[in-house]
Amino acid sequence: MASEQMEYYKAKYQTLEDLPGVGPATASKLREIGFRTVEAVATATIHEMVSAGIGETTAEKVINAARKSMAITFVRGDELVKIRSNIRHLTTGCTSLDYLLGGGIESQSITEFYGEFGTGKSQICQQLCLTVQLPYEQGGLEGGALYIDTENTFRPERIIQMAPKFNLDPDEALRKIIFAEAYTSNHQTVLLENADEVIKENNIRLIVVDSVTSHFRSEYLGREMLAPRQQELNKHLHKLIRLSRAFNTAVAVTNQVMAQPDAFFAKVVKPVGGHIMGHTCHTRIFLRKGRSNLRIAKLVVSPFLPEGETPFRITERGVEGDEDY
Ligand SMILES: Nc1ncnc2c1ncn2[C@@H]1O[C@H](COP(=O)(O)OP(=O)(O)O)[C@@H](O)[C@H]1O
Ligand SMILES: [Mg+2]
Repeated sequence: MASEQMEYYKAKYQTLEDLPGVGPATASKLREIGFRTVEAVATATIHEMVSAGIGETTAEKVINAARKSMAITFVRGDELVKIRSNIRHLTTGCTSLDYLLGGGIESQSITEFYGEFGTGKSQICQQLCLTVQLPYEQGGLEGGALYIDTENTFRPERIIQMAPKFNLDPDEALRKIIFAEAYTSNHQTVLLENADEVIKENNIRLIVVDSVTSHFRSEYLGREMLAPRQQELNKHLHKLIRLSRAFNTAVAVTNQVMAQPDAFFAKVVKPVGGHIMGHTCHTRIFLRKGRSNLRIAKLVVSPFLPEGETPFRITERGVEGDEDY
Protein backbone atom coordinates (compact mmCIF):
# COMPACT_ATOMS: atom_id res chain seq x y z
CA MET A 1 0.00 0.00 0.00
CA ALA A 2 2.64 2.46 1.04
CA SER A 3 4.67 2.12 -2.15
CA GLU A 4 1.55 2.37 -4.29
CA GLN A 5 0.72 5.66 -2.63
CA MET A 6 4.25 6.93 -2.92
CA GLU A 7 4.06 6.55 -6.69
CA TYR A 8 0.75 8.30 -6.74
CA TYR A 9 2.01 11.45 -5.13
CA LYS A 10 5.53 11.55 -6.54
CA ALA A 11 6.42 14.54 -8.66
CA LYS A 12 7.34 13.76 -12.25
CA TYR A 13 10.49 15.85 -12.03
CA GLN A 14 12.88 15.27 -9.17
CA THR A 15 15.38 18.10 -9.54
CA LEU A 16 15.29 21.59 -11.01
CA GLU A 17 17.42 20.46 -13.97
CA ASP A 18 14.72 17.92 -14.89
CA LEU A 19 12.27 20.73 -15.65
CA PRO A 20 11.95 21.41 -19.38
CA GLY A 21 13.86 24.54 -20.37
CA VAL A 22 15.93 24.66 -17.20
CA GLY A 23 19.65 24.38 -17.82
CA PRO A 24 22.44 24.47 -15.26
CA ALA A 25 22.57 28.28 -15.33
CA THR A 26 18.87 28.80 -14.62
CA ALA A 27 18.91 26.03 -12.03
CA SER A 28 21.75 27.60 -10.12
CA LYS A 29 20.11 31.02 -10.36
CA LEU A 30 16.87 29.54 -8.98
CA ARG A 31 18.73 27.91 -6.09
CA GLU A 32 20.52 31.13 -5.37
CA ILE A 33 17.24 32.99 -4.91
CA GLY A 34 15.81 30.26 -2.73
CA PHE A 35 13.89 27.94 -5.05
CA ARG A 36 15.72 24.71 -4.39
CA THR A 37 13.15 22.08 -5.28
CA VAL A 38 10.49 21.43 -7.90
CA GLU A 39 7.93 21.82 -5.11
CA ALA A 40 9.23 25.28 -4.26
CA VAL A 41 9.02 26.35 -7.91
CA ALA A 42 5.52 24.92 -8.22
CA THR A 43 4.27 27.04 -5.34
CA ALA A 44 6.03 30.22 -6.45
CA THR A 45 4.36 33.12 -8.19
CA ILE A 46 5.67 34.71 -11.40
CA HIS A 47 5.90 38.04 -9.61
CA GLU A 48 8.08 36.54 -6.86
CA MET A 49 10.54 35.16 -9.41
CA VAL A 50 10.63 38.24 -11.59
CA SER A 51 11.39 40.46 -8.61
CA ALA A 52 14.23 38.10 -7.71
CA GLY A 53 15.77 38.60 -11.16
CA ILE A 54 14.37 35.83 -13.39
CA GLY A 55 13.00 36.83 -16.80
CA GLU A 56 9.22 36.80 -17.04
CA THR A 57 8.99 34.26 -19.88
CA THR A 58 11.34 31.87 -18.13
CA ALA A 59 9.52 32.29 -14.83
CA GLU A 60 6.19 31.49 -16.41
CA LYS A 61 7.56 28.45 -18.24
CA VAL A 62 9.34 26.94 -15.23
CA ILE A 63 6.44 27.49 -12.85
CA ASN A 64 3.98 25.90 -15.26
CA ALA A 65 6.22 22.89 -15.82
CA ALA A 66 6.72 22.44 -12.08
CA ARG A 67 2.99 22.74 -11.40
CA LYS A 68 2.15 20.17 -14.06
CA SER A 69 4.71 17.88 -12.51
CA MET A 70 3.11 18.19 -9.10
CA ALA A 71 -0.47 17.81 -10.28
CA ILE A 72 -2.21 14.76 -9.00
CA THR A 73 -3.58 12.77 -11.91
CA PHE A 74 -7.30 12.44 -12.32
CA VAL A 75 -8.83 9.51 -10.51
CA ARG A 76 -12.30 8.04 -10.71
CA GLY A 77 -14.54 8.47 -7.69
CA ASP A 78 -14.47 4.76 -6.88
CA GLU A 79 -10.68 4.78 -6.96
CA LEU A 80 -10.69 7.75 -4.64
CA VAL A 81 -12.89 5.81 -2.22
CA LYS A 82 -10.30 3.05 -2.29
CA ILE A 83 -7.45 5.46 -1.61
CA ARG A 84 -9.40 7.15 1.15
CA SER A 85 -10.43 3.84 2.73
CA ASN A 86 -6.88 3.58 4.06
CA ILE A 87 -7.44 6.64 6.21
CA ARG A 88 -7.55 5.81 9.90
CA HIS A 89 -8.45 7.72 13.02
CA LEU A 90 -6.00 7.97 15.86
CA THR A 91 -7.61 8.42 19.27
CA THR A 92 -6.45 11.41 21.31
CA GLY A 93 -7.00 9.36 24.47
CA CYS A 94 -9.49 11.98 25.61
CA THR A 95 -13.15 11.09 25.01
CA SER A 96 -14.41 14.64 24.62
CA LEU A 97 -11.69 15.54 22.12
CA ASP A 98 -12.32 12.33 20.19
CA TYR A 99 -16.00 13.15 20.05
CA LEU A 100 -15.24 16.63 18.72
CA LEU A 101 -12.93 15.14 16.10
CA GLY A 102 -15.25 12.36 15.00
CA GLY A 103 -13.08 9.63 16.51
CA GLY A 104 -9.63 11.16 16.66
CA ILE A 105 -7.14 12.73 14.28
CA GLU A 106 -7.05 11.43 10.71
CA SER A 107 -4.11 9.83 8.98
CA GLN A 108 -3.01 11.24 5.61
CA SER A 109 -3.60 14.85 6.59
CA ILE A 110 -2.43 17.51 9.01
CA THR A 111 -4.26 18.34 12.22
CA GLU A 112 -3.31 21.65 13.77
CA PHE A 113 -3.69 22.55 17.44
CA TYR A 114 -3.28 26.28 17.98
CA GLY A 115 -3.67 28.49 21.00
CA GLU A 116 -1.88 30.61 23.55
CA PHE A 117 0.95 29.43 25.76
CA GLY A 118 -0.13 26.81 28.29
CA THR A 119 -3.38 25.80 26.62
CA GLY A 120 -2.37 22.15 26.24
CA LYS A 121 -0.93 21.86 22.74
CA SER A 122 2.22 20.00 23.77
CA GLN A 123 0.33 17.88 26.29
CA ILE A 124 -2.03 16.65 23.58
CA CYS A 125 0.89 15.92 21.25
CA GLN A 126 2.71 13.93 23.92
CA GLN A 127 -0.40 11.93 24.72
CA LEU A 128 -0.81 11.13 21.00
CA CYS A 129 2.70 9.63 21.11
CA LEU A 130 1.26 7.05 23.50
CA THR A 131 -2.13 6.42 21.89
CA VAL A 132 -0.50 5.80 18.49
CA GLN A 133 1.10 2.73 20.05
CA LEU A 134 -2.24 1.18 21.01
CA PRO A 135 -3.87 -1.62 19.02
CA TYR A 136 -6.34 -0.66 16.28
CA GLU A 137 -9.28 -1.90 18.40
CA GLN A 138 -8.39 0.70 21.01
CA GLY A 139 -8.07 3.52 18.53
CA GLY A 140 -4.31 3.32 18.07
CA LEU A 141 -2.28 2.82 14.91
CA GLU A 142 0.03 0.09 16.25
CA GLY A 143 3.13 2.14 15.51
CA GLY A 144 5.62 4.64 16.79
CA ALA A 145 5.84 8.41 16.87
CA LEU A 146 8.30 10.89 15.42
CA TYR A 147 8.45 14.03 17.54
CA ILE A 148 10.08 17.16 16.19
CA ASP A 149 10.41 19.64 19.01
CA THR A 150 11.29 23.27 18.32
CA GLU A 151 10.54 24.71 21.76
CA ASN A 152 12.28 22.19 23.97
CA THR A 153 9.09 21.16 25.75
CA PHE A 154 8.97 17.40 25.16
CA ARG A 155 9.47 15.61 28.50
CA PRO A 156 10.12 11.86 28.67
CA GLU A 157 9.12 12.05 32.36
CA ARG A 158 5.67 13.14 31.27
CA ILE A 159 5.41 10.17 28.90
CA ILE A 160 6.34 7.88 31.80
CA GLN A 161 3.69 9.55 33.94
CA MET A 162 0.93 9.18 31.31
CA ALA A 163 1.76 5.66 30.09
CA PRO A 164 -0.15 3.72 32.82
CA LYS A 165 -3.45 5.30 31.80
CA PHE A 166 -3.07 3.48 28.48
CA ASN A 167 -1.71 0.27 30.03
CA LEU A 168 1.59 0.83 28.29
CA ASP A 169 4.96 -0.06 29.75
CA PRO A 170 6.71 3.33 30.15
CA ASP A 171 10.15 2.19 28.98
CA GLU A 172 8.79 0.34 26.00
CA ALA A 173 6.60 3.31 25.14
CA LEU A 174 9.62 5.63 25.19
CA ARG A 175 11.51 3.31 22.86
CA LYS A 176 8.78 3.82 20.25
CA ILE A 177 9.12 7.59 20.27
CA ILE A 178 11.81 8.99 18.02
CA PHE A 179 12.72 12.46 19.13
CA ALA A 180 14.56 15.26 17.36
CA GLU A 181 15.08 18.81 18.43
CA ALA A 182 15.12 21.32 15.58
CA TYR A 183 17.31 24.34 16.25
CA THR A 184 16.35 26.45 13.24
CA SER A 185 13.64 26.44 10.59
CA ASN A 186 16.18 25.14 8.14
CA HIS A 187 17.16 22.34 10.50
CA GLN A 188 13.48 21.53 10.94
CA THR A 189 13.03 21.33 7.17
CA VAL A 190 16.12 19.17 6.69
CA LEU A 191 15.01 16.79 9.46
CA LEU A 192 11.75 16.13 7.62
CA GLU A 193 13.41 15.87 4.24
CA ASN A 194 15.47 13.01 5.59
CA ALA A 195 12.71 11.39 7.61
CA ASP A 196 11.58 8.74 5.10
CA GLU A 197 14.00 6.09 6.31
CA VAL A 198 13.40 6.74 9.99
CA ILE A 199 9.65 6.52 9.42
CA LYS A 200 9.96 3.24 7.57
CA GLU A 201 12.45 1.60 9.92
CA ASN A 202 10.54 2.50 13.07
CA ASN A 203 7.02 1.94 11.79
CA ILE A 204 6.18 5.55 12.54
CA ARG A 205 2.44 6.23 12.33
CA LEU A 206 2.39 9.68 13.92
CA ILE A 207 4.50 12.72 13.13
CA VAL A 208 4.42 15.64 15.56
CA VAL A 209 5.92 19.04 14.87
CA ASP A 210 5.70 21.15 18.03
CA SER A 211 5.64 23.99 17.08
CA VAL A 212 5.60 24.10 13.31
CA THR A 213 5.77 27.89 12.99
CA SER A 214 7.92 29.22 15.86
CA HIS A 215 11.29 29.15 14.10
CA PHE A 216 9.86 30.54 10.89
CA ARG A 217 8.23 33.31 12.85
CA SER A 218 11.31 34.33 14.79
CA GLU A 219 13.79 34.07 11.93
CA TYR A 220 11.95 35.80 9.10
CA LEU A 221 11.35 39.27 10.49
CA GLY A 222 9.96 42.25 8.62
CA ARG A 223 7.64 42.72 5.69
CA GLU A 224 10.19 41.89 3.03
CA MET A 225 10.79 38.50 4.67
CA LEU A 226 7.15 37.51 4.62
CA ALA A 227 7.16 36.05 1.12
CA PRO A 228 10.26 33.86 1.61
CA ARG A 229 8.95 32.77 5.01
CA GLN A 230 5.61 31.70 3.59
CA GLN A 231 7.34 29.91 0.74
CA GLU A 232 9.55 27.89 3.08
CA LEU A 233 6.69 27.14 5.44
CA ASN A 234 4.57 26.01 2.51
CA LYS A 235 7.32 23.67 1.36
CA HIS A 236 7.68 22.27 4.85
CA LEU A 237 3.94 21.65 5.24
CA HIS A 238 3.69 19.99 1.86
CA LYS A 239 6.53 17.68 2.77
CA LEU A 240 4.51 16.75 5.86
CA ILE A 241 1.43 16.05 3.75
CA ARG A 242 3.40 13.89 1.34
CA LEU A 243 4.93 11.89 4.18
CA SER A 244 1.52 11.40 5.77
CA ARG A 245 0.09 10.05 2.53
CA ALA A 246 3.07 7.95 1.60
CA PHE A 247 3.19 6.22 4.98
CA ASN A 248 -0.45 6.63 6.03
CA THR A 249 0.61 8.44 9.19
CA ALA A 250 -1.29 10.97 11.25
CA VAL A 251 0.33 14.39 11.56
CA ALA A 252 -0.20 16.73 14.50
CA VAL A 253 1.30 20.21 14.45
CA THR A 254 1.03 23.00 16.96
CA ASN A 255 0.90 26.68 16.23
CA GLN A 256 1.08 29.90 18.16
CA VAL A 257 -1.41 32.71 17.97
CA MET A 258 -1.05 36.43 17.53
CA ALA A 259 -3.39 39.26 18.40
CA GLN A 260 -5.52 40.31 15.49
CA PRO A 261 -4.55 43.91 14.79
CA ASP A 262 -7.96 45.01 13.53
CA ALA A 263 -9.88 43.85 16.60
CA PHE A 264 -10.46 46.92 18.77
CA PHE A 265 -12.86 45.68 21.42
CA ALA A 266 -12.53 42.03 22.29
CA LYS A 267 -9.18 40.29 22.45
CA VAL A 268 -9.17 38.30 19.24
CA VAL A 269 -6.32 36.00 18.33
CA LYS A 270 -5.57 34.19 15.12
CA PRO A 271 -3.10 31.45 14.26
CA VAL A 272 0.31 32.35 12.84
CA GLY A 273 1.11 31.38 9.25
CA GLY A 274 -1.70 33.03 7.32
CA HIS A 275 -3.39 31.36 4.40
CA ILE A 276 -0.55 28.86 3.94
CA MET A 277 -1.38 27.23 7.29
CA GLY A 278 -5.09 27.61 6.54
CA HIS A 279 -4.85 25.77 3.26
CA THR A 280 -2.59 22.93 4.31
CA CYS A 281 -3.96 22.05 7.75
CA HIS A 282 -7.11 20.12 7.01
CA THR A 283 -8.36 20.13 10.56
CA ARG A 284 -7.74 23.07 12.89
CA ILE A 285 -8.45 23.09 16.59
CA PHE A 286 -8.30 26.24 18.70
CA LEU A 287 -7.42 25.69 22.36
CA ARG A 288 -8.09 28.17 25.12
CA LYS A 289 -8.18 28.32 28.88
CA GLY A 290 -11.52 28.25 30.63
CA ARG A 291 -12.50 28.72 34.26
CA SER A 292 -10.89 26.72 37.08
CA ASN A 293 -8.22 24.88 35.17
CA LEU A 294 -10.57 23.84 32.42
CA ARG A 295 -9.42 23.96 28.80
CA ILE A 296 -11.71 24.37 25.81
CA ALA A 297 -11.08 22.91 22.39
CA LYS A 298 -12.92 24.37 19.44
CA LEU A 299 -13.04 22.68 16.08
CA VAL A 300 -12.59 25.58 13.71
CA VAL A 301 -12.02 23.86 10.38
CA SER A 302 -12.80 20.31 9.33
CA PRO A 303 -13.40 18.80 5.91
CA PHE A 304 -16.38 16.81 7.12
CA LEU A 305 -17.40 17.76 10.67
CA PRO A 306 -19.48 20.66 11.99
CA GLU A 307 -17.89 23.32 14.16
CA GLY A 308 -18.09 22.53 17.84
CA GLU A 309 -16.56 23.01 21.26
CA THR A 310 -15.66 20.70 24.07
CA PRO A 311 -14.02 21.06 27.48
CA PHE A 312 -11.05 18.99 28.64
CA ARG A 313 -8.59 18.94 31.53
CA ILE A 314 -4.89 18.42 31.91
CA THR A 315 -4.21 16.30 34.96
CA GLU A 316 -1.37 14.22 36.26
CA ARG A 317 -2.81 11.29 34.31
CA GLY A 318 -2.82 13.16 31.02
CA VAL A 319 -5.33 14.98 28.83
CA GLU A 320 -8.81 13.99 29.91
CA GLY A 321 -12.49 14.62 29.33
CA ASP A 322 -15.14 14.31 32.03
CA GLU A 323 -15.95 10.74 30.96
CA ASP A 324 -12.37 9.63 31.44
CA TYR A 325 -12.35 9.66 35.24
N1 LIG B 1 2.11 16.56 35.13
C1 LIG B 1 1.13 17.45 34.98
N2 LIG B 1 0.04 17.41 35.75
C2 LIG B 1 -0.94 18.32 35.61
N3 LIG B 1 -0.93 19.31 34.70
C3 LIG B 1 0.13 19.39 33.90
C4 LIG B 1 1.21 18.47 33.97
N4 LIG B 1 2.12 18.79 33.05
C5 LIG B 1 1.62 19.88 32.42
N5 LIG B 1 0.44 20.23 32.91
C6 LIG B 1 -0.41 21.38 32.50
O1 LIG B 1 -0.23 21.60 31.15
C7 LIG B 1 -0.02 23.01 30.91
C8 LIG B 1 0.95 23.20 29.80
O2 LIG B 1 0.41 22.69 28.65
P1 LIG B 1 1.26 22.65 27.32
O3 LIG B 1 0.70 21.58 26.50
O4 LIG B 1 2.70 22.61 27.61
O5 LIG B 1 0.89 24.09 26.72
P2 LIG B 1 1.25 24.67 25.29
O6 LIG B 1 2.02 23.65 24.54
O7 LIG B 1 -0.08 24.95 24.69
O8 LIG B 1 2.02 25.92 25.58
C9 LIG B 1 0.53 23.55 32.18
O9 LIG B 1 0.03 24.86 32.36
C10 LIG B 1 -0.01 22.63 33.24
O10 LIG B 1 -1.18 23.19 33.75
MG1 LIG C 1 3.95 23.76 23.81
